[in-house]
Parts: sequence; C-alpha cells; structure tokens
Amino acid sequence: MKHLLSTADLSKQEAVGLLDTAAQMAATQSREIKKLPTLRGRTVVNLFFEDSTRTRISFETAAKRLSADVINFSAKGSSVSKGESLKDTALTLHAMGADAVVVRHWASGAPYQLAHAGWLDAAVLNAGDGTHMHPTQALLDAYTIRRHLAVRGSGLPGGAADGVGADLAGLRVAIVGDVLHSRVARANVALLRTLGAEVTLVAPPTLVPVGVETWPCRTSYDLDATLDDWRPDAVMMLRVQRERMSGGAGAFFPSPLEYSRYYGLDARRLARLADHAIVMHPGPMNRGLEISAEAADSDKAVIVEQVANGIAVRMAALYLLMAGDSSAEGNDL
Ligand code: CP
Repeated sequence: MKHLLSTADLSKQEAVGLLDTAAQMAATQSREIKKLPTLRGRTVVNLFFEDSTRTRISFETAAKRLSADVINFSAKGSSVSKGESLKDTALTLHAMGADAVVVRHWASGAPYQLAHAGWLDAAVLNAGDGTHMHPTQALLDAYTIRRHLAVRGSGLPGGAADGVGADLAGLRVAIVGDVLHSRVARANVALLRTLGAEVTLVAPPTLVPVGVETWPCRTSYDLDATLDDWRPDAVMMLRVQRERMSGGAGAFFPSPLEYSRYYGLDARRLARLADHAIVMHPGPMNRGLEISAEAADSDKAVIVEQVANGIAVRMAALYLLMAGDSSAEGNDL
C-alpha cells in the first residue's frame, strides 16, 4: 500500500491489518513514554484546504508520537490565497522533502491528483475530499465498532481482546442523516461491507445521493422503522452539512424542525435501541438537529472514544505507509 485514498481500495486483509496495527499502537499509548522512534527523520505535511479540528490534530499527534517532523499547512494564510495551484503547492512540498502528505480538500479527487500526477514522491493520505471519501474516519469508526461489538459478530476468533483479528460480520450499522453530502457515509459503506457488516442508510429523500441503489447497502426513509424492525447494533448519526447546501437538489429540506423530528436521535429513540447498541457521530455535531444532547452525552455514545481512537488508527496508517516492513530494524512497536 503506497497511499491511503479510499476505503474502496482496501482488501479485507488490508483493512483488518490496519485495525490490528491500530490496536498495537493503542497499546503503546498506555505506556509512560508514548513516543516511538519509528519515523524519526521523516517529514509529514498536513495539507488542509478545508477546516478541521479532529482529523488535523489527531494526524499531527499521531505523526509526533511516531517521532516524525510535522509541518502544518493551512490554505488560509498561505500562497493558495494568492492563487497558487495545487500543482505548485505540491512541487513546493516536494522541494521541502515531504515523505507523507495528509491532504484535506474541498474538491473530490484532489488526493488522487496529488498521489498520481507525479508532482510528489510521498505517501498521500486522504483526510477527506469533498463529498467523496474520508478513509481514516471510516477506519476509526470500524475500530470503535470492533472494540465494542465484534464479539457479537461471527468474525471474532476465540475471544481475542478488543476484537483483534476480527472482521465485523454479523453486525448491523445504521448510518443516518445527510448522506448526500457525506464522505463519511461513502467511506463507511465501502469499509463496513468489506468487513462483513450489514449497512442501512437512513435519510430524507432529498438527502439521498443519485445512484445509491448501486451501493452495497439498504436505504430507508424511515428512521423509526429501521430502529424498531431492523435493530441496528450501531447507529451512526451524520452531520447536516449546511455549508454544502446552496439551493437546488442540495437545498436543506425538510426544515430543521422537521429534520430533527423525523431523523434526529433524541431521548425517545435512544430508549428504543438494544441494550448493547452504540451511538456514533464523526463530529462536529449539530446538537439539537441530528442528535440531541441526551443522546450525545448518553452512556451509549462512543463519540469521544471515536476521537481518541483516531490517534491510534492514524498512527497505524502512517506507520504502514511510511515504515513499510514492520520487521525492519528499529520498527518494533
Ligand atoms: N470527523 C471529522 O473529520 O472532523 P473534523 O472536520 O473536525 O476533522
């Protein structure tokens, strides 16, 4: 694996391997000295053309925990605001000796362009591109589901701690909300299916993408029926992305009040979930719109844990792409 661009590119073996490596990374983070020497002398550039809190900070933390040098580049305040192109930005990073580039971009496909245009000789990690993909978010979501629920699925070999070695076969995940604009939904559908989970997308008809019938999942317009009849093990609420809604087919419809009434996870719906079910959200949350404070702060919510797991998952991704052969000298975890 040279780049991490899309969860659709991952085989089951690669996906389980990434999750298992993340579990190893998480184990190192309970030590008194958290830092590993693995990427000493290597440079990771965080190249962010869109705002981010969780992804940017956790990639920076992950790279530093692996002893890499980290350069944070935000389009705001850079020469991009003077009109510099993606190509010239990439050539500049190449001249500075970037070994890996973590890129978030408003344009779907920008990380592919960086990886394949020949402007850079670096591993490219997609940190979210337009409405297309967010692979490390899906991996940290799968890691979190596996830690909580893998024993319920059929993929767990012999009760291994934290689900290590397991896929997600037999588990049901409902992904609810603004699927139309969600790279998190697309990344999760592809990865969850590869790992053997069943997925149902739940959304109002105006927030379902054209062509969803070709995706490897079910689609429903009825959240209550999905919760009561399909009985998901995990409910993943999506952020309503008002910043991507500029009229036409993407207009925000139904109204916010109707949206929270029909598609919001509130205390009433929370009480109907199975005892073992978990509530997820990639963040940032619109409290009171797609999720109520009671649901976000409940015992079932693993939202803060998702953020913490993001560090281990991003350490694993950087490690596997940049250190490669884990048996090489100095690469011991
Ligand atoms: N989940 C996620 O991508 O959050 P940020 O936009 O804060 O990085």
